Amino acid sequence: MKKISMVRMPVINRHSLFLRQMSASRPIGIFDSGYGGLTVFKSIAALLPHYDYIYIGDNARAPYGNRSFETVYEYTLQCVEEFFKMGCPLVIIACNTASAKALRTIQQNDLPGLDQGRRVLGVIRPSAEVIGNYTKTGSVGILGTVGTVESNSYKLEVEKFFPQVHIYQQACPMWVPLIEEGEYNSESADLYVKKYLDELMAQSPDIDTILLGCTHYPLLMDKIKRHLPSSITVVAQGDIVAHSLADYLQRHPEIEQRISREGETRFYTTDSPEDFDNHATIFFGKQVRSQHLHL
Ligand code: DGL
Repeated sequence: MKKISMVRMPVINRHSLFLRQMSASRPIGIFDSGYGGLTVFKSIAALLPHYDYIYIGDNARAPYGNRSFETVYEYTLQCVEEFFKMGCPLVIIACNTASAKALRTIQQNDLPGLDQGRRVLGVIRPSAEVIGNYTKTGSVGILGTVGTVESNSYKLEVEKFFPQVHIYQQACPMWVPLIEEGEYNSESADLYVKKYLDELMAQSPDIDTILLGCTHYPLLMDKIKRHLPSSITVVAQGDIVAHSLADYLQRHPEIEQRISREGETRFYTTDSPEDFDNHATIFFGKQVRSQHLHL
């Protein structure tokens, strides 16, 4: 007869179960200076709902748009390190300003020293890879923060994929502050929407496609469309980035297999969680409950 040995099962109380789940959690990190990245995360979560996610909004230091290269780089790197401490094998910088000013340095200089097995990706390249497919005239307008426009990242990236496409850029420095302050429906928003769109369209009458190159701007989508002829296609980045991420994960099983998949999301803000929860719904489309992250 087979001998049955008794195996002593460890006692698991609720606290050790929580710690075990936390340490097993290897979510995808989603980062933005504030709320804007939620417009991208909304599309990612809809397309890839089975993964775990952590969102960090650096609301206490937003907006990043007018800040120097050094400052945006320092803040972004600090948040990437937080994601790594929380176990993320992959971080998406869902902020064009941080993608333009910090991503390359982090990928080339910092990642090798931090952890070669983890990846940090941005939102500019996936948008540049497809934006040329939307235009018939070959003239594309890019709206972004001062930082994104001055970095010239879009022009450089789009040229690699669509050398025949002309890029016209317009900085919209008042849009993020208006959106972060909840003023995106106000008359002042109308004024500034008109101002920057007029300045962009004055650069070329041939522009037939406009990319919202800032993850905050989809909140102004209705106003933007109202100020433009219907022949102009206005493109937001959310779905583009989500499909690009799905494609990346398919091509990189070594990263994909490391991501935990309980379908859970944690939200962190460097400012007040109460404020974050009150504002986040309009960007994310759902009520969220955030925690404070002290940096
Ligand atoms: N949402 C960020 C972007 O996509 C910028 C916001 C900011 O200025 O902090 O560029």
